[in-house]
Amino acid sequence: MRVAVIGTGRIGELRASALARLPEVEQVLLTDVDAARASALAQRLDGVALEDVDAIWAARPVGVVISSSTATHVPLVHAALDAGVPVLCEKPLTLSAPESQAIAAHAAEAGLPVLVGFQRRFDAAFGAIREHAAAELHGATHLLRLRHADVAPPPAGYAARAGTMFVDMCIHDFDAVRWIGGEVEAVTAVGARVLGIPGFEDDVDTAITVLQLASGAVAVVEASRQGPDQYEAIAELIGAHGTSTTPAHPAPTWLDRFDEAFHVEMAAFARALAGAAYDGATVDDATAALRIALAAERSARERRLVRVQEIG
Ligand SMILES: NC(=O)c1ccc[n+]([C@@H]2O[C@H](COP(=O)([O-])OP(=O)(O)OC[C@H]3O[C@@H](n4cnc5c(N)ncnc54)[C@H](O)[C@@H]3O)[C@@H](O)[C@H]2O)c1
Repeated sequence: MRVAVIGTGRIGELRASALARLPEVEQVLLTDVDAARASALAQRLDGVALEDVDAIWAARPVGVVISSSTATHVPLVHAALDAGVPVLCEKPLTLSAPESQAIAAHAAEAGLPVLVGFQRRFDAAFGAIREHAAAELHGATHLLRLRHADVAPPPAGYAARAGTMFVDMCIHDFDAVRWIGGEVEAVTAVGARVLGIPGFEDDVDTAITVLQLASGAVAVVEASRQGPDQYEAIAELIGAHGTSTTPAHPAPTWLDRFDEAFHVEMAAFARALAGAAYDGATVDDATAALRIALAAERSARERRLVRVQEIG
């Protein structure tokens, strides 16, 4: 099969490399507004660089990974659907709930999947926590704790196109909370700009979100843009009779920590393109995670508890 990747930056390179290693993927098509970047990657992977997205649609790939900057996701997903191409898009799919719902409607009308890259769903350690919760290994879960801390912030210029920390970074954890613990009803968040990271002047860099789940349980998501020696993505499940925690997995960056999960996710996408069921995040999961992130953003701004249903 022939699969395309739009956007060959930090994560696009990883997605394309994972696809190129799959036996069922015969050719990876690449494009980027930075043509030299796409060409260099095509050379390394024995792929094909094309001049723009129109050339991608004309080449009729069986699927496309959209891994360009966040602000480009909405038009590119609609263009892929118009071209009849199934999509896996990076998180966040959009920065607004109505845009996310419009993509869901377009995907339904086109009869094509729009899947979203929440790779914790393909990580063995997060998967084990989910299984322990489902099996009530320690009794019913009453507390979930997630910690997410980057060693260093993203490169300068990234923030302006990425959405706030809640939508750009914590959204991974909000999706994981839903995936492990079920629906979220309300959030209370506190965010602060204490690190003073250049390029992030309009955003917080440190945030804690308390989530009230429909099950009655509580979840806490702690996030920091910078700090630890090793990247941290930790989940802890607390039941009445014990706890489970993701094992230590020292890795310098998120790329290293989730390398295996990204590969498993790309293999699942290729299987889905061949007709298999997909067990990762769908457009509806992305909309749900976004609504939690927007509720957290509003909660931090207005200093109050926000019900997720307040977000349209
Ligand atoms: N799943 C994850 O853990 C994860 C991690 C990091 C980033 N992301 C997401 O992936 C996306 C990209 O992030 P990144 O860190 O790789 O950014 P990046 O800046 O390294 O790369 C983005 C690339 O997209 C290209 N681009 C921009 N507009 C384009 C367009 N219209 N058509 C084609 N190419 C275009 C840029 O030239 C650049 O090469 C963002 O949405 C981000 O939120 C996800």
